Amino acid sequence: MQDIKEAIKTKYGKIALTGNSDCCCMPGQCGTPIQAAATLGYSEKDLQAVPQESILGVGCGAPLNHASLEQGEVVVDLGSGAGIDVFMSANRVGKSGRVIGIDMTEEMLAKARKNAAGFDNVEFRRGDIEERIPLEDAAADVVISNCVINLTADKVAAFKEIRRILRDGGRMVISDLVTDRESENIDSEKWSSCIDGALTKENYISCISKAGFVDIKVLKERPYIEVDGRRISSVVVRAVK
Ligand SMILES: C[S@@+](CC[C@H](N)C(=O)[O-])C[C@H]1O[C@@H](n2cnc3c(N)ncnc32)[C@H](O)[C@@H]1O
Repeated sequence: MQDIKEAIKTKYGKIALTGNSDCCCMPGQCGTPIQAAATLGYSEKDLQAVPQESILGVGCGAPLNHASLEQGEVVVDLGSGAGIDVFMSANRVGKSGRVIGIDMTEEMLAKARKNAAGFDNVEFRRGDIEERIPLEDAAADVVISNCVINLTADKVAAFKEIRRILRDGGRMVISDLVTDRESENIDSEKWSSCIDGALTKENYISCISKAGFVDIKVLKERPYIEVDGRRISSVVVRAVK
């Protein structure tokens, strides 16, 4: 799995440097990164209120449309990329709140930090979310993530880490991809394009449950792409610690 992790870092490192993504938007509707992000559910107003360089078109949903963020909350975005959901969260939680983006790809972190000029309630930290999220226990009110957990090999470990950093009663609201049939082969290009690491919805929910979450709900589900006869769907899932 180390090879896959390196392939993920290489792929997203290149996307950070070039701005070109060939993955993770509603097929046939990708267009520019902003158009891609709009097809995933964010309003034009929300998209115009974030640094435009933070929009890479590599998410697969709009988790913040379901997170009910409030002023003053502490939000953690896992696999934050160039920061689109971090900046959108920062606009919602205001100056009394705080948003922390976590990513393992250096080039993404550099791009996100550059984008953060003028935002004093955001920070970006390097970390591998299936090993250890660089935050103390119970530090977050809300954890969000957009098209990232499918990239991890040990999803239960990632969900346990999310649960560890949430306060009691805190919520996780994530967009991700699931499949009707899991891949039998592991192809590093397809894995890093968010395809081969996708679980069935049932297995995905079971991983969340094994990590100790309660009140697990699939809030939204829609067809995303078909690859090798497998139907991949985009979901938004909410769960509570
Ligand atoms: C598909 S992109 C999504 C980026 C961002 N959430 C967005 O919507 O624009 C996946 C991101 O997750 C990061 N990533 C993948 N696996 C990770 C892991 N195990 N720990 C931390 N970051 C990870 C990648 O570096 C990349 O920036």
